[in-house]
Amino acid sequence: MSGLKARILGAVEADLRAIEEALVANLTPHLELVREVAGHILFNGGKRMRPLLLVLGARLCGYRGSYDTAFSTALEYLHAATLLHDDLVDGAETRRGKPAAHRLWGNAIAVLVGDFLLARALSLTAATGNPRIVAVLSRLTEEMSQGEVHQLQRKGDPGLSEEEYGEVIRRKTAVLFETACRVSALLAEAPASSEEALAAYGLALGHAFQIADDLLDYTAQAERIGKDVGSDLREGKMTLPLIRGLALAGAAERRRILALIGNPDVPAEDFAWLRGFLAQSGAIAYARRAAETWIAAAKGHLRRFPDSPTRRTLMDLADYCLERNL
Ligand code: IPE
Ligand code: IPE
Ligand code: MG
Ligand code: MG
Repeated sequence: MSGLKARILGAVEADLRAIEEALVANLTPHLELVREVAGHILFNGGKRMRPLLLVLGARLCGYRGSYDTAFSTALEYLHAATLLHDDLVDGAETRRGKPAAHRLWGNAIAVLVGDFLLARALSLTAATGNPRIVAVLSRLTEEMSQGEVHQLQRKGDPGLSEEEYGEVIRRKTAVLFETACRVSALLAEAPASSEEALAAYGLALGHAFQIADDLLDYTAQAERIGKDVGSDLREGKMTLPLIRGLALAGAAERRRILALIGNPDVPAEDFAWLRGFLAQSGAIAYARRAAETWIAAAKGHLRRFPDSPTRRTLMDLADYCLERNL
């Protein structure tokens, strides 16, 4: 384990334990099947980034109440719901090192349990009694679903620009991080300036996080990330390393890459070649730099808060986004 990861885990150990307990306690389905499927997606690992951001953000804003941990589960339930739906839409085989839920229970159950988790998230949100928090979370679900639709619509189009890619990842991923941070400030009744700074931190963090995820899809080993590697290419998902790789490719390389995009059976040697090309052409480094720029921006937004252990952990989490290998 890296020093950074060990430091973060040391700092949030008690929070993580409380979040795990709350995730079990707040699920409350009536049906055993729902418990089983929701449990499959929820309790097979998962970094708990979003609930952690909420708990840490609230602490940074001086929150003194006791609803933050329970409420933070709403963000993980929402996240899990989107993963159930995303794996179905993406045709993913594995998630968190286990078969994806739709592989085990079929598409209908995966969709419906995803709906249940989304509904649980909104119920927990309603329990805050804070209409602004309800509005922010509701709006978030609109953004996320449209981010996924937008991505689906543009699948397999090698002409997708970096700008449009940025728009997709903002909606499908970054707004959830933004929301986790924004509602932490709302829960703590922090001043608007703190709310905006935390929200901007979360948004930037989310961009970095998704770019890092898209990098891992080319650079990682499947065992390390608990999900398939190379799946973005097979699905025809245009992500930053590939978009940049195409821009840097010569005519012959370009032809070879185009033939691989969206091919469900990319031969191992072709994938190995593409990995090599993306590395040596500088496309991987380019995407890493883009993530680093977002991370620097995220940390910049935290500087308006006085230094504290919580702020340091949030800074560490920003660095971890790119260093993570799962
Ligand atoms: C996966 O999110 C979906 C993306 C936004 C890339 P995480 O990488 O946070 O997944 P878990 O919850 O830790 O498994
Ligand atoms: C993030 O996109 C998915 C959501 C926002 C739900 P990906 O499709 O890249 O996520 P993974 O790689 O399946 O975790
Ligand atoms: Mg996916
Ligand atoms: Mg991915």
